[in-house]
Amino acid sequence: MSGQMLGDAALGADGIVHVARRLTEPAMARLAAWRRPVSCGGDEPPARDQLLRAARGAAGVIVTLTERVDAEFLDAAGPALRVVANVAVGYDNIDVAEASRRAVVVANTPGVLDEATADHTFAMILAVTRRVVEADRFARSGTPWMWGPRLFLGLDISAGATLGIVGHGRIGRAVARRALAFGMRVVAYDPRLRPGQTYDAVQAVAWPDLLALADVVSLHVPLMDATRHLVDAAALAAMKDGAYLVNAARGGIVDELALLAALRSGRLAGAALDTFEGEPRINPELMELDSVVLQPHIASAGAVTRDRMCQLAVDNVERVLAGEPPLTPVPAP
Ligand code: GLV
Repeated sequence: MSGQMLGDAALGADGIVHVARRLTEPAMARLAAWRRPVSCGGDEPPARDQLLRAARGAAGVIVTLTERVDAEFLDAAGPALRVVANVAVGYDNIDVAEASRRAVVVANTPGVLDEATADHTFAMILAVTRRVVEADRFARSGTPWMWGPRLFLGLDISAGATLGIVGHGRIGRAVARRALAFGMRVVAYDPRLRPGQTYDAVQAVAWPDLLALADVVSLHVPLMDATRHLVDAAALAAMKDGAYLVNAARGGIVDELALLAALRSGRLAGAALDTFEGEPRINPELMELDSVVLQPHIASAGAVTRDRMCQLAVDNVERVLAGEPPLTPVPAP
């Protein structure tokens, strides 16, 4: 369904909304019912030149994290643009400062994806520590096997293992609730917390202490200048021997080459990654390691959750074009 026009195109091109990629069916049905012309891309991310052409003259655009919204995009869209709604909570694909200089409102989709993302993060924690994917590959391989007391040993997370949450926001707290229910000890690092204080049974600690204490480090911070390569060679070296790293946030938070070295040397026992530095490219060297669980950026991919994200993006455009603030604005820096 590439380049489809929805809605009442007879109203003319004034106030057109461009949707970069096909959304969920209920969200598409809402767009089709608008008394406003809507153009829509297909299921795959649009080529850059196609996106820039399609956005020309739009009053609103709905984009996903695969589309870069920068000065070039905003120039191509032109002065009629009033709102950019991202179908994602993270908005590192959008130059918010540039948008706000041009009085373009930016909105994202926080809140609606916390539980789904925490569920998937926890699935990744279990998968990597109990070697679920590796054992599945082995079981399918046809290799002869028998039950054995040392077969596929992993980490007993319920026997007092410590989870280190990096970023105690909505998603970090939702992951912490799951870990506490599993009997883990949970510590968190977040510049907004006071080390030594306890928040809902989560103990706040300083960054070096989190790295030294955690058996599993799980990342829940946005990608921005302050968090780019937060997990670098020095941070990896400060982690416990045999610890695990879980990243369902953004690839750029981790120095992937340093992670590879830490995994290869056996310093880390494993990693579970839903996001990658050069996404969608995955470093082939990561693929060679049995200790790594790889996911194609699907932590929020619950069907209901994805519909809520799409509908929230539609709400945000509807509201801004009606002269109201979006439900979930991204603050101008
Ligand atoms: C997904 O990665 C999101 O930011 O919503």
